[in-house]
Amino acid sequence: MRNKPLLIAAGMTVAVMAIIFFAGWLFGRMVARHDRAGEAQVAAAPAQPAESAGSVMGRTGSRQLDALRRGVPVDQEAVPVPMARVENVDRKRERAYPMQPPTIPHAIDGYQIDKNSNRCMLCHARANAEKFQAPPVSVTHYMDRDDQFLASISSRRYFCNQCHVVQTDAPELVGNTFQDIDKVLAAAESGQAGATSARESK
Ligand code: HEC
Ligand code: HEC
Repeated sequence: MRNKPLLIAAGMTVAVMAIIFFAGWLFGRMVARHDRAGEAQVAAAPAQPAESAGSVMGRTGSRQLDALRRGVPVDQEAVPVPMARVENVDRKRERAYPMQPPTIPHAIDGYQIDKNSNRCMLCHARANAEKFQAPPVSVTHYMDRDDQFLASISSRRYFCNQCHVVQTDAPELVGNTFQDIDKVLAAAESGQAGATSARESK
């Protein structure tokens, strides 16, 4: 046997390759099993946006809000929610609380607000409001941060759509149980009245 070392080397190489092959096969099996488990989970998820009460946002399995995909798995095409239409019918909405910036009851497409011009103030400035029959901005819009009244619109209130938004027919993104202060007061009063009458009837 002249080539004994060569034979030993060849044998060892074959053995090592066999071990590596076996390890790879085992690993591949493990990964495949894991993938199947994941697929089963995805299949269990609903294909359509999960419409929970009063919400157009789906909730994922962990009950987290999912505004982007609305609960539709990533390998499926979601049906997009229709775009909201801006109401342009001059009907004001109720303010939920006294200091709520009122929503804008008209469309504002193309109304420019920048350093040089403020289209909103064309109609809503004190001096122009009469001509356009628009409500003038309230006195708070002329106040600086020290509550001093300025002659022209305060820089704090210059960019109107920072606070005021148009009214759309978009459904609420999440349900809410907000009650305005009148309802809260009425409920408290009727609760109290009930308590008093109960005491009197005793
Ligand atoms: C062409 C004139 C005009 C322009 C420009 C204009 N508005 Fe108006 N706005 C009105 C009129 C008129 C009303 C009163 C309701 C109505 O008739 O639509 C009104 C109502 C409003 C109201 C409701 C006030 C309330 O008491 O409920 C808000 C808020 C408002 N506008 C904000 C804006 C903002 C912000 C801009 C600029 C992006 C703007 N408006 C541009 C004419 C105008
Ligand atoms: C920092 C937030 C903010 C900005 C910016 C702002 N507003 Fe207001 N606006 C309010 C709030 C809050 C109210 C309601 C309470 C009040 O009158 O201060 C209001 C009220 C109004 C009203 C109703 C006034 C009334 O007497 O009922 C009009 C009209 C209005 N804003 C228009 C504008 C316009 C036009 C601009 C841009 C030049 C503007 N607002 C910028 C917060 C803002």
